[in-house]
Amino acid sequence: MNSSNTPRANRYNKTNVSGKTFYLETFGCQMNVHDSEKVVGTLVEQGYSQVETPEEAHLVLYNTCSIRDKAEQKVFNRLQNFKRDAGKGKVFGVLGCVAQQEGEKIFDRAPHVSLVCGSASYTRFGEMLVQIEAGNRRVTGLSLDTEETFDTPFTRRDNPHRAYITIIEGCDKSCAYCVVPFTRGPERSRTSESVMAEARGLAEKGYSEIQLLGQNVNSYRDPSPAGWDFATLLARVAEVPGIRRVRYTTSHPRDFVRAIVDAMDSNESICDHVHLPVQSGSSKVLAAMDRLYTRDEYMRRIDWLKSAKRKYSLTTDIIVGFPGETEADFEQTLQLLDEVQYDSLFSFKYSPRPNTSALAMEDKVPDEEKQRRLLILQEKQRAIQIRRNAESIGSVREVLVEGRHESLGQWIGRTSDNRTLNFSHPETGGKSLIGQYLSVRVTRSGPNSLVGESVTVV
Ligand code: 5AD
Ligand code: SF4
Repeated sequence: MNSSNTPRANRYNKTNVSGKTFYLETFGCQMNVHDSEKVVGTLVEQGYSQVETPEEAHLVLYNTCSIRDKAEQKVFNRLQNFKRDAGKGKVFGVLGCVAQQEGEKIFDRAPHVSLVCGSASYTRFGEMLVQIEAGNRRVTGLSLDTEETFDTPFTRRDNPHRAYITIIEGCDKSCAYCVVPFTRGPERSRTSESVMAEARGLAEKGYSEIQLLGQNVNSYRDPSPAGWDFATLLARVAEVPGIRRVRYTTSHPRDFVRAIVDAMDSNESICDHVHLPVQSGSSKVLAAMDRLYTRDEYMRRIDWLKSAKRKYSLTTDIIVGFPGETEADFEQTLQLLDEVQYDSLFSFKYSPRPNTSALAMEDKVPDEEKQRRLLILQEKQRAIQIRRNAESIGSVREVLVEGRHESLGQWIGRTSDNRTLNFSHPETGGKSLIGQYLSVRVTRSGPNSLVGESVTVV
């Protein structure tokens, strides 16, 4: 899953009579961002209040990512910075994927850490806080042997208009490069009833956009007798009164079935965007990655989407420099970009991860070569995006207003097909437009965003 820039707007504080304060920093994907919203809820429920800086906090928590080595290093750098504070009454906790992956080794590497808790143990997070408060300085939650998902009524959401709902946790695939099955455990789907209740509750609170989350949402399988698959759940969430936009991430091409396209075609509130990570354009590399599909099978999904009733924006993830990737394999990835014409992509240099099967593979690609391929790929994609975004000039698009660039005098909008569309709007007399749906005419474009003028009279 991909990094998110969700603004950390709200700071939560129940009535804090105890002086218990916490600081939480989140790294990684939307799953982590949303887990943090639930962890914050649990903390506030137990009488903690959130502060802006680690310096002010009694409890300092990092919700971590270990998808690539660089992401993992970040948390150790943060902990290193605070070593000197260990004796000053601060308590440090490592949550999430690095916690799960490194386990009790974290206590050796950073002895001032008192809590190490993977995401599969968040259901016990409240109990762990009690142990910390009792003075226990080696508290762990590291079991992956769970059938539970982390559902809580206390979630504190950062955004008042767009809400995440986790529908499935963990992953049962075994992609050769990927650490997620080891950090998030086996797949567990929530019941359709609890997902629907959450969606209705959010609509009642005024949320208009829902993003369904999971490492592989397509393999959602309702554990209750109703037995809904992902396409059914998606269609039903889209029918909840008050919900105007539904997004979902992330999809695995192998489980991306035709019924999902049909559900999208028949529900206008499902956004015009599909993120379908391909990883490589070479069937040989895909087989080595254990991705369970060939290039042709992937392209069949793309054809479904391109010949659908609506026009869908397509985005993807690509790894360059996987062991054994030759120049010819890489060329096939470049050709795939030409063929698909993605609207955006996340590209990464292959990063060897603990426990994964690719670690033992030969024919490693040197780092300079990975870097060279990454730059070529990004350059090609940039040219595609410049051209594709320019095609929008002159069209009128509906945006959900998400923010404001005060210095530019522009509002920040997002289209259904997940483009950022910054736009000017007549003076509102100080009234915020955030959360509204407006029509905007596109006047200019760049590689990563569009610019326009509001045509809605407010
Ligand atoms: N090295 C580089 N990129 C990786 N990803 C996952 N694991 C690795 C790794 N070991 C990328 C994939 C995935 C995205 C979330 O991160 O492209 O889709
Ligand atoms: Fe998300 Fe994967 Fe990173 Fe964990 S390792 S935070 S699941 S991207």
